[in-house]
Amino acid sequence: MTPCPDHPLTTYRPGLFAGRNAVVAGGTSGINLGIAKAIAACGAKVAVIGRNGEKAEHAASALREIGPEALPLIADVRDFAAIDAAMAQAAKRFGPLDFVVAGAAGNFIAAADSLSSNGFRTVTDIDLLGAFHTFKTARPWLREEGSSLIAISSGQAFQPMWGQVHASAAKAGIESLVRTLALEWGPAGIRVNSLSPGPIAATEGVKRLVPQSRVDAIARRLPIRRFGSAEEVGNAAVFLLSPAASFVTGMTLFCDGGMMLTPYDGQPGADLVPETVR
Ligand code: COA
Repeated sequence: MTPCPDHPLTTYRPGLFAGRNAVVAGGTSGINLGIAKAIAACGAKVAVIGRNGEKAEHAASALREIGPEALPLIADVRDFAAIDAAMAQAAKRFGPLDFVVAGAAGNFIAAADSLSSNGFRTVTDIDLLGAFHTFKTARPWLREEGSSLIAISSGQAFQPMWGQVHASAAKAGIESLVRTLALEWGPAGIRVNSLSPGPIAATEGVKRLVPQSRVDAIARRLPIRRFGSAEEVGNAAVFLLSPAASFVTGMTLFCDGGMMLTPYDGQPGADLVPETVR
């Protein structure tokens, strides 16, 4: 597969987010850490929330090398009280919050026939309920006028994908959540958008959804002919958070190398669902 080109942490002007405060739920690794780094590189203080304390510490020390301040917080987004406490901690340390990213997600490939009720609920609880918890608990701490929220969506929200009934339903719910909150919170000066990354190299998502043997074939079918990088998703997120997008709300930004334009069999997943189901 063509490697991702070397990419600066941010293509925006330094200091764009000076004096701004951000929370990235799920920001301890992968795409969300890429987003946290891009925000930090623009000068904002960034808190990352994750379930694993060691990963959170590790992410925060990487962020401290880039931005003015970083705070590692431990919470499971499914646990309202825990995420509520984490959000309060971020706001008490930093001050009013400007940017919140609801990015915590869980996924695995399982055909509907072999997916238990608890398996379905686990993914919808992390992705959809978790996004609601993240935004709901952030709301009292938002600076309001000029605040910008992003939920991480995915192509499954729009296009059915083999073995993804749980994630497809959760991400479709996120799309609806984003539009409804954009409507309700717009008058307070809060923008809410979703960001839909395609296959991003070296992430847990790709590891879980794309068999190694299919990486090259899937990359070749993308119009951009390669997987993306966390830095590229970070730059897309900064656009949505920044004043450059000040009249953009309730929208989905696809940062997917054109994946949504490809035929369905160019998508990951089908290979991992047994032939009998297909
Ligand atoms: N296939 C089918 N069912 C599965 C499964 C798989 N590969 N992995 C988990 N499940 C089911 C479990 O069997 C269980 O259901 P059951 O009680 O009926 O048996 C249910 O899902 C919950 O699993 P559990 O491991 O207890 O959940 P958890 O809360 O510890 O972990 C996951 C959540 C399952 C999403 C886990 O994979 C995770 O923590 N992922 C986070 C990272 C991630 O997925 N990143 C990629 C994002 S794109």
